[in-house]
Amino acid sequence: MSDKARIRKLIEDAEFDIKADDRQKATEKLFPALEMAKQIHSKELLKVIFQKLSEIGYFFLKPQSIELSPLETDGLILDIGGGGEGIIGKLNGRQVVAIDVSEKELEETQNEALKVVMDATDLKFLPNSFDVCTSFFAFMYIPKKKHLKVFEEAYRVLRNKGRFLIWDVRIPKLDERHNKFVVPLKLQLPNEKVETGYGVKLQTQDIEHFKKLAQKTKFKITQEWSKDETFHLLLCKNRV
Ligand SMILES: C[S@@+](CC[C@H](N)C(=O)[O-])C[C@H]1O[C@@H](n2cnc3c(N)ncnc32)[C@H](O)[C@@H]1O
Repeated sequence: MSDKARIRKLIEDAEFDIKADDRQKATEKLFPALEMAKQIHSKELLKVIFQKLSEIGYFFLKPQSIELSPLETDGLILDIGGGGEGIIGKLNGRQVVAIDVSEKELEETQNEALKVVMDATDLKFLPNSFDVCTSFFAFMYIPKKKHLKVFEEAYRVLRNKGRFLIWDVRIPKLDERHNKFVVPLKLQLPNEKVETGYGVKLQTQDIEHFKKLAQKTKFKITQEWSKDETFHLLLCKNRV
Protein backbone atom coordinates (compact mmCIF):
# COMPACT_ATOMS: atom_id res chain seq x y z
CA MET A 1 0.00 0.00 0.00
CA SER A 2 1.36 3.46 -0.87
CA ASP A 3 1.79 6.16 1.80
CA LYS A 4 -1.15 8.09 0.38
CA ALA A 5 -3.38 4.99 0.45
CA ARG A 6 -2.36 4.30 4.05
CA ILE A 7 -3.19 7.88 5.07
CA ARG A 8 -6.56 7.72 3.25
CA LYS A 9 -7.36 4.48 5.08
CA LEU A 10 -6.58 6.13 8.45
CA ILE A 11 -8.83 9.08 7.53
CA GLU A 12 -11.63 6.73 6.47
CA ASP A 13 -11.38 4.79 9.74
CA ALA A 14 -11.35 8.07 11.68
CA GLU A 15 -14.51 9.19 9.85
CA PHE A 16 -16.14 5.97 10.97
CA ASP A 17 -15.11 6.71 14.59
CA ILE A 18 -16.41 10.29 14.33
CA LYS A 19 -19.79 8.97 13.13
CA ALA A 20 -19.78 6.57 16.09
CA ASP A 21 -18.98 9.61 18.31
CA ASP A 22 -15.68 8.04 19.49
CA ARG A 23 -13.39 11.10 19.37
CA GLN A 24 -10.56 9.37 21.20
CA LYS A 25 -10.29 6.61 18.58
CA ALA A 26 -10.55 9.18 15.78
CA THR A 27 -7.70 11.18 17.38
CA GLU A 28 -5.54 8.05 17.54
CA LYS A 29 -5.86 7.71 13.76
CA LEU A 30 -5.73 11.32 12.70
CA PHE A 31 -2.48 12.26 14.46
CA PRO A 32 -0.43 9.43 12.87
CA ALA A 33 -2.09 10.34 9.55
CA LEU A 34 -1.01 13.96 10.12
CA GLU A 35 2.61 12.94 10.72
CA MET A 36 2.65 10.79 7.57
CA ALA A 37 1.01 13.50 5.43
CA LYS A 38 3.62 15.99 6.68
CA GLN A 39 6.43 13.62 5.71
CA ILE A 40 5.18 13.25 2.14
CA HIS A 41 4.25 16.98 1.95
CA SER A 42 0.69 16.25 0.77
CA LYS A 43 -1.18 19.57 1.08
CA GLU A 44 -4.40 17.97 -0.11
CA LEU A 45 -4.35 15.26 2.59
CA LEU A 46 -3.18 17.70 5.29
CA LYS A 47 -6.19 19.89 4.52
CA VAL A 48 -8.59 16.94 4.95
CA ILE A 49 -6.90 15.86 8.20
CA PHE A 50 -7.04 19.38 9.71
CA GLN A 51 -10.71 19.55 8.72
CA LYS A 52 -11.42 16.24 10.54
CA LEU A 53 -9.42 17.32 13.62
CA SER A 54 -11.40 20.55 13.71
CA GLU A 55 -14.63 18.52 13.57
CA ILE A 56 -13.59 16.74 16.77
CA GLY A 57 -12.71 19.97 18.59
CA TYR A 58 -9.04 20.76 17.78
CA PHE A 59 -7.98 24.32 17.04
CA PHE A 60 -4.60 24.59 15.29
CA LEU A 61 -2.52 27.75 15.31
CA LYS A 62 -0.30 28.52 12.33
CA PRO A 63 3.28 27.25 12.97
CA GLN A 64 5.18 29.64 15.25
CA SER A 65 8.92 30.16 14.74
CA ILE A 66 11.34 30.88 17.58
CA GLU A 67 15.12 31.22 17.53
CA LEU A 68 16.96 30.11 20.66
CA SER A 69 20.53 30.20 21.93
CA PRO A 70 22.09 28.82 25.15
CA LEU A 71 21.26 30.84 28.27
CA GLU A 72 24.15 32.91 29.53
CA THR A 73 24.88 31.71 33.04
CA ASP A 74 27.59 29.73 34.84
CA GLY A 75 25.09 28.50 37.41
CA LEU A 76 22.33 25.94 37.68
CA ILE A 77 19.12 26.22 35.68
CA LEU A 78 15.82 24.83 36.92
CA ASP A 79 13.59 23.94 33.94
CA ILE A 80 9.92 23.64 34.88
CA GLY A 81 7.97 21.12 32.77
CA GLY A 82 11.25 20.12 31.18
CA GLY A 83 10.11 16.80 29.69
CA GLY A 84 9.03 16.36 26.07
CA GLU A 85 11.53 17.88 23.66
CA GLY A 86 13.55 19.18 26.62
CA ILE A 87 14.61 22.28 24.71
CA ILE A 88 16.35 24.05 27.62
CA GLY A 89 18.33 20.86 28.34
CA LYS A 90 19.31 20.74 24.66
CA LEU A 91 20.61 24.32 24.95
CA ASN A 92 22.44 24.19 28.30
CA GLY A 93 22.97 20.43 28.90
CA ARG A 94 24.32 19.46 32.31
CA GLN A 95 23.64 22.85 33.88
CA VAL A 96 19.93 22.02 33.71
CA VAL A 97 17.76 20.31 36.34
CA ALA A 98 14.57 19.41 34.44
CA ILE A 99 11.52 18.76 36.57
CA ASP A 100 8.23 17.41 35.25
CA VAL A 101 5.17 15.75 36.82
CA SER A 102 5.26 13.13 34.09
CA GLU A 103 7.90 10.42 34.42
CA LYS A 104 7.03 9.27 30.90
CA GLU A 105 7.72 12.72 29.41
CA LEU A 106 11.10 12.84 31.18
CA GLU A 107 12.00 9.33 30.00
CA GLU A 108 11.37 10.35 26.41
CA THR A 109 13.54 13.47 26.70
CA GLN A 110 16.94 13.26 25.04
CA ASN A 111 19.43 15.69 26.54
CA GLU A 112 22.03 15.80 29.30
CA ALA A 113 19.85 17.50 31.92
CA LEU A 114 19.34 15.92 35.32
CA LYS A 115 15.71 14.74 35.21
CA VAL A 116 13.54 14.65 38.32
CA VAL A 117 9.83 13.87 38.72
CA MET A 118 8.49 16.86 40.66
CA ASP A 119 5.50 19.18 40.72
CA ALA A 120 6.28 22.84 39.97
CA THR A 121 3.71 23.89 42.59
CA ASP A 122 5.64 22.03 45.30
CA LEU A 123 9.39 22.27 44.61
CA LYS A 124 11.59 20.20 46.91
CA PHE A 125 14.61 22.52 46.66
CA LEU A 126 15.84 24.82 49.42
CA PRO A 127 15.40 28.57 48.94
CA ASN A 128 18.07 30.39 46.84
CA SER A 129 19.20 27.24 44.99
CA PHE A 130 19.18 28.32 41.33
CA ASP A 131 20.58 31.15 39.20
CA VAL A 132 18.00 30.73 36.48
CA CYS A 133 14.54 29.21 36.26
CA THR A 134 12.86 28.53 32.89
CA SER A 135 9.43 27.54 31.69
CA PHE A 136 9.33 26.63 28.02
CA PHE A 137 5.67 26.20 27.05
CA ALA A 138 4.96 24.55 30.42
CA PHE A 139 2.38 27.03 31.78
CA MET A 140 -0.05 26.15 28.98
CA TYR A 141 -0.09 22.63 30.48
CA ILE A 142 -0.54 23.78 34.09
CA PRO A 143 -4.08 24.70 35.24
CA LYS A 144 -4.38 28.48 35.44
CA LYS A 145 -5.39 28.48 39.10
CA LYS A 146 -1.99 26.92 39.92
CA HIS A 147 0.12 29.50 38.02
CA LEU A 148 0.50 31.85 41.00
CA LYS A 149 1.87 29.01 43.16
CA VAL A 150 4.42 28.16 40.44
CA PHE A 151 5.58 31.81 40.36
CA GLU A 152 5.90 31.81 44.18
CA GLU A 153 7.91 28.60 44.09
CA ALA A 154 10.19 29.89 41.30
CA TYR A 155 10.79 33.07 43.31
CA ARG A 156 11.61 31.07 46.45
CA VAL A 157 14.18 28.74 44.85
CA LEU A 158 15.91 31.48 42.82
CA ARG A 159 18.94 33.29 44.23
CA ASN A 160 18.76 37.05 44.64
CA LYS A 161 19.20 38.60 41.14
CA GLY A 162 18.16 35.22 39.70
CA ARG A 163 16.20 35.24 36.43
CA PHE A 164 12.92 33.55 35.51
CA LEU A 165 12.51 33.08 31.75
CA ILE A 166 9.12 32.20 30.31
CA TRP A 167 8.16 31.27 26.74
CA ASP A 168 4.49 30.57 26.11
CA VAL A 169 1.58 31.13 23.78
CA ARG A 170 -1.53 33.29 23.73
CA ILE A 171 -4.56 31.04 23.93
CA PRO A 172 -7.69 32.90 22.82
CA LYS A 173 -11.27 32.27 23.79
CA LEU A 174 -12.69 30.04 21.07
CA ASP A 175 -16.18 29.05 20.02
CA GLU A 176 -17.83 26.05 21.74
CA ARG A 177 -16.93 23.68 18.90
CA HIS A 178 -13.24 23.83 19.88
CA ASN A 179 -12.02 22.56 23.23
CA LYS A 180 -8.46 21.57 22.39
CA PHE A 181 -5.66 23.88 21.34
CA VAL A 182 -2.48 22.98 19.44
CA VAL A 183 0.52 25.22 18.80
CA PRO A 184 2.91 23.88 16.13
CA LEU A 185 6.45 25.18 16.74
CA LYS A 186 9.49 25.56 14.51
CA LEU A 187 12.47 26.00 16.81
CA GLN A 188 15.87 27.04 15.54
CA LEU A 189 18.63 25.96 17.97
CA PRO A 190 22.31 26.70 17.25
CA ASN A 191 23.00 23.24 15.78
CA GLU A 192 19.59 21.79 15.19
CA LYS A 193 16.04 22.51 14.04
CA VAL A 194 13.18 21.08 16.09
CA GLU A 195 9.63 20.88 14.75
CA THR A 196 7.10 19.98 17.38
CA GLY A 197 3.57 20.70 18.54
CA TYR A 198 2.18 21.19 22.02
CA GLY A 199 -1.53 20.52 22.53
CA VAL A 200 -3.77 21.07 25.53
CA LYS A 201 -7.35 21.29 26.68
CA LEU A 202 -8.38 24.85 26.19
CA GLN A 203 -7.67 27.48 28.89
CA THR A 204 -7.23 31.09 27.87
CA GLN A 205 -3.98 32.92 28.67
CA ASP A 206 -1.94 35.88 27.40
CA ILE A 207 1.19 37.84 28.30
CA GLU A 208 -0.81 40.21 30.55
CA HIS A 209 -1.85 37.27 32.76
CA PHE A 210 1.83 36.45 33.37
CA LYS A 211 2.85 40.08 33.90
CA LYS A 212 0.21 40.35 36.64
CA LEU A 213 1.59 37.22 38.30
CA ALA A 214 5.10 38.71 38.10
CA GLN A 215 3.91 41.88 39.84
CA LYS A 216 2.08 39.89 42.52
CA THR A 217 5.16 37.82 43.32
CA LYS A 218 7.53 40.85 43.24
CA PHE A 219 9.49 39.80 40.17
CA LYS A 220 10.83 42.71 38.14
CA ILE A 221 9.94 42.54 34.44
CA THR A 222 13.28 43.07 32.71
CA GLN A 223 12.44 42.19 29.12
CA GLU A 224 9.47 41.05 27.07
CA TRP A 225 8.57 40.31 23.45
CA SER A 226 5.64 38.95 21.52
CA LYS A 227 5.96 37.35 18.09
CA ASP A 228 2.82 36.18 16.30
CA GLU A 229 1.02 34.24 19.03
CA THR A 230 4.03 33.40 21.20
CA PHE A 231 5.60 35.57 23.87
CA HIS A 232 8.63 35.72 26.14
CA LEU A 233 9.18 37.30 29.54
CA LEU A 234 12.46 37.80 31.37
CA LEU A 235 11.81 38.37 35.08
CA CYS A 236 14.31 39.17 37.78
CA LYS A 237 14.24 38.45 41.51
CA ASN A 238 15.45 41.72 42.95
CA ARG A 239 15.27 41.55 46.70
CA VAL A 240 16.65 44.68 48.43
C1 LIG B 1 4.65 21.40 26.41
S1 LIG B 1 5.14 20.17 27.49
C2 LIG B 1 6.91 20.16 27.45
C3 LIG B 1 7.61 21.36 27.00
C4 LIG B 1 9.10 21.24 27.31
N1 LIG B 1 9.52 22.34 28.13
C5 LIG B 1 9.94 21.12 26.05
O1 LIG B 1 11.02 21.72 26.02
O2 LIG B 1 9.54 20.42 25.10
C6 LIG B 1 4.78 20.76 29.13
C7 LIG B 1 5.18 19.81 30.24
O3 LIG B 1 4.74 20.37 31.49
C8 LIG B 1 4.52 19.27 32.34
N2 LIG B 1 3.75 19.70 33.51
C9 LIG B 1 2.40 19.92 33.60
N3 LIG B 1 2.06 20.29 34.84
C10 LIG B 1 3.22 20.35 35.58
C11 LIG B 1 3.52 20.67 36.93
N4 LIG B 1 2.58 21.03 37.80
N5 LIG B 1 4.82 20.60 37.33
C12 LIG B 1 5.79 20.23 36.47
N6 LIG B 1 5.56 19.90 35.17
C13 LIG B 1 4.29 19.97 34.72
C14 LIG B 1 3.83 18.25 31.46
O4 LIG B 1 3.93 16.96 32.00
C15 LIG B 1 4.58 18.41 30.15
O5 LIG B 1 5.62 17.50 30.01
